[in-house]
Amino acid sequence: MSEISQRKDSHIKLAGMSQVQGHDDRFNYEPLLGGFPSDWRSPSVFLGKKIEAPLWVSSMTGGSSKGKALNKVLATVASKFGLGMGLGSCRALLEDSKKFDDFNLRPILGDGLPFYANIGVAQVEALIQSQKLNSLGEMVEKLSCDGLVVHINPLQEYFQPGGDKVIRPALETLRELTESLKLSYVIKEVGQGMGPESLRSLIELNVDAIELAAHGGTNFTKLEGMRSETSSSEDFSKVGHTALEMIEILNTLSADNLDVIISGGVNNVLDAHFLKSRCGYNSVIGKASSLLFYAEKGESELSEYVEQWLRDYQLAVQFLKVKSEWN
Ligand SMILES: Cc1cc2nc3c(=O)[nH]c(=O)nc-3n(C[C@H](O)[C@H](O)[C@H](O)COP(=O)(O)O)c2cc1C
Repeated sequence: MSEISQRKDSHIKLAGMSQVQGHDDRFNYEPLLGGFPSDWRSPSVFLGKKIEAPLWVSSMTGGSSKGKALNKVLATVASKFGLGMGLGSCRALLEDSKKFDDFNLRPILGDGLPFYANIGVAQVEALIQSQKLNSLGEMVEKLSCDGLVVHINPLQEYFQPGGDKVIRPALETLRELTESLKLSYVIKEVGQGMGPESLRSLIELNVDAIELAAHGGTNFTKLEGMRSETSSSEDFSKVGHTALEMIEILNTLSADNLDVIISGGVNNVLDAHFLKSRCGYNSVIGKASSLLFYAEKGESELSEYVEQWLRDYQLAVQFLKVKSEWN
């Protein structure tokens, strides 16, 4: 049977099962206006460097042999597609210089792409107390990073067995950090987002970027609750701010030169296109758990996933326009 006949028969067979439930009414679909994406590329400048596509490898891992292997896969694929990347918490490296190789991804990523080290606010607080803040600057320099991501995760720390309790308000710690150590800073939560007062404070601090790490994706309060079997962690895990809510708050504030990494519960390319269109700032989409899932399968699987994701994203950009009631 010819290919066309096979297709026609398959259409007859599948048509009865192809009734759609549900309707995504965030977009106007404009089939007359777009063209098929010829490429996954859509270059822009993010955190002062050229990237080939608006996707960011969100902070995840390092400090174990598995983390080291995954980091290499993530950096290799980020380099191939010209993406920016944040390291997972570099606390292990601060405590043990032998862990350098786990985090030494600049040689893989190349010099041209944004690459940020990562540390938790509880560790920053401890470094301030022990007057060792300089070690953070030295670490960023040694890793040839462009700056530092600081994650603000008081709920995670609280529910983590043996977690560090954040004693001072994180804002005070961040103020002291940014005044003492002149670096490029990205500030993020780890899966619950943050509310208007915190976002306003970050803008007043003049940070270079905010990563939303919003509610709706991986949730570390829930994760640590499972490790410690604490019952109230389940209730706390439901609190937080979605990416859309945070974008709407940010859009009411004004910040010069703020970049935004839209992450946390960005489930598919339509969410990505919708949220990025809604965001009034220079932005990229940050992904963590889904990249990790494919990185664990291997470099070529992650590569295929990223390329398909970028192509599908371009398709959305070409044919879907966010409805005016959202603008
Ligand atoms: C396995 C794993 C480890 C993570 N470790 C860190 C970390 O060390 N530092 C950090 O700032 N965020 C960390 N995150 C949070 C992510 O960067 C991201 O903000 C959050 O998971 C939301 O993205 P997602 O919904 O795409 O997973 C981690 C996420 C995952 C899945």
